[in-house]
Amino acid sequence: MSREPMIAPSLLSADFARLADEVQRIADADWVHVDVMDAHFVPNLTLGLPVVKAIQAVSPVPLDCHLMIDDPERWAPGYAEAGARNVTVHAEACTDPRAVARDLKAAGALAGLAIKPGTPLEDYLDVLPEFDTLLVMTVEPGFGGQSFMPEVLPKVREARRLVEAGHLQLFLEVDGGINADTIEQAAEAGADVFVAGSAVYGADDPGRAIAALRAQAARAR
Ligand code: DX5
Ligand code: ZN
Repeated sequence: MSREPMIAPSLLSADFARLADEVQRIADADWVHVDVMDAHFVPNLTLGLPVVKAIQAVSPVPLDCHLMIDDPERWAPGYAEAGARNVTVHAEACTDPRAVARDLKAAGALAGLAIKPGTPLEDYLDVLPEFDTLLVMTVEPGFGGQSFMPEVLPKVREARRLVEAGHLQLFLEVDGGINADTIEQAAEAGADVFVAGSAVYGADDPGRAIAALRAQAARAR
């Protein structure tokens, strides 16, 4: 495994009234994870493109946009055009994942595909060569602060096996319930990008929490 573990704090657990300050508090992070929810694909509603553009303009850290929205074919390219480093769409919401990946990459972003806990990896093996990132959800998408689901780790293990065998080239990202108690399991399974909302923004010192999580993940691999 060549890549160093990457930590992507989730702004979902930040203070939405102070987002410019909140991104500065995690300046040592690798990506800043932005959860876009539309109250259709998931029951919750968060923020959209205008706010992402405002964050992009002030963030010292590249943006990792996680689109929990219907009709990603229509909306996702705008996030790439806004300058996000990685834009992830949900497999369950896509009618043509290949087309989305192509459009995201044409707009200059990495293309990510997310799968919910109940979605099999096998269903998307044929399209994954078009993507740069696979996001394996370790909670049901929709809310921060939920408990990690270790039962999804076999999907991370299988994806890691395919990457190591040279069949796929992907960042393997996990999202949901990642903290000091769970990150080692996810790292051991083969994840290399770790989203953490409450574990980073709930800490007294987010910068120290990021460093500690990164060190824990590196040791576990
Ligand atoms: C949940 C979001 C996550 C969430 C993670 O639907 O996709 O990114 O912010 O929050 P924690 O780390 O608190 O589980
Ligand atoms: Zn997320």
